[in-house]
Amino acid sequence: MQTVLDKALSAFPRADLLQGPTPIQRACRLEQQLGLHEQQVQLYIKRDDHMLIGGGGNKLRKLEFHLGAALQDGIDTIITVGGIQSNHARLTAAVCARQGIDCELILSRAVPKREADYELNGNRLLDHLFGARVHVLPQGKDAQVQAEIRAAQLRAAGRKPLVIPTGGSTPVGSLGYARCAAEITRQETELDVQFTQVMIANGSAGTHAGLAAGFELLGRGAATVRSWSVLTDRDTAAARTLQLTRQTLALLGSSAALRTDAIDIDASQLGEGYGLPTPAMLEAVQLMARCEGLLLDPVYSGKAFAGLLGDLRQGRYRSGDSVLFVMTGGTPGLYAYRDTFIAR
Ligand SMILES: Cc1ncc(COP(=O)(O)O)c(C=O)c1O
Repeated sequence: MQTVLDKALSAFPRADLLQGPTPIQRACRLEQQLGLHEQQVQLYIKRDDHMLIGGGGNKLRKLEFHLGAALQDGIDTIITVGGIQSNHARLTAAVCARQGIDCELILSRAVPKREADYELNGNRLLDHLFGARVHVLPQGKDAQVQAEIRAAQLRAAGRKPLVIPTGGSTPVGSLGYARCAAEITRQETELDVQFTQVMIANGSAGTHAGLAAGFELLGRGAATVRSWSVLTDRDTAAARTLQLTRQTLALLGSSAALRTDAIDIDASQLGEGYGLPTPAMLEAVQLMARCEGLLLDPVYSGKAFAGLLGDLRQGRYRSGDSVLFVMTGGTPGLYAYRDTFIAR
């Protein structure tokens, strides 16, 4: 049956990069390890790290809608921005390679790390393999401004560039996660479960905003989503997420008035800042790897899962609750953080 959300989404051009839903798996060994059986709380994982292009990750869902619009407009170059180890930049490069579109990445030094692995391994290595043209900015230069300057140069040379901002987190990009809310809802029926909450990492806010807008339109409420900020303090993340959720709802034709408290964000896992490891992240990445054989990442999903572990250990959920953690990818980042995981 077509929902209001399905109908609203069908109005937007989308390039099919996922080719079907990502799996949802129950984390039985983690449930055992955390004593969730006794509490009768179930833990499920949505494998948005498991996709068919570029190593996978949440950015592909946003890129489906960015690329759909770009192809309709006859774009020949995509320029995007991010940190040195940006997963969004890597996936944009992979998608452009597959589509035969030129890709330029404007990368900035957002994290005080200078190890060779950080500078050249992980996502940086893959950007190179996917054939993107990479510009690494000197400290202090604004990547978005540089991207616009580069786009103007290309336009002057007769090209048709598109600039996608940080993380692809515009209302158009967030449609990808509104669509994911519909996908999760269909999978709930197949699995005969209804998730109490859906948990994710929050960086540039598009993933949270898209899911929140989707669940709001489906009548479940935006507060179905809970995220952990890995980039800014709680108030800044909440304000950005609320604004983007409202913009995404408006784009989908909804006039729903979203209350401030519908956005559930926790910043307790940020630690000393974006991209800086914390002991809780380290424990979370190891626990997931050793109990489930699955890979989180050190910057986003590792910190978010550390937050969820905290919630579960503090008994936030009640008997009969089922929670869904969305694994958003980013595993190439593990290779950039070798020193964090293996002490020399
Ligand atoms: C692996 C991974 N997970 C989560 C996020 C957070 O997504 P968003 O930027 O939409 O908040 C990102 C963003 O770069 C990411 O790369």
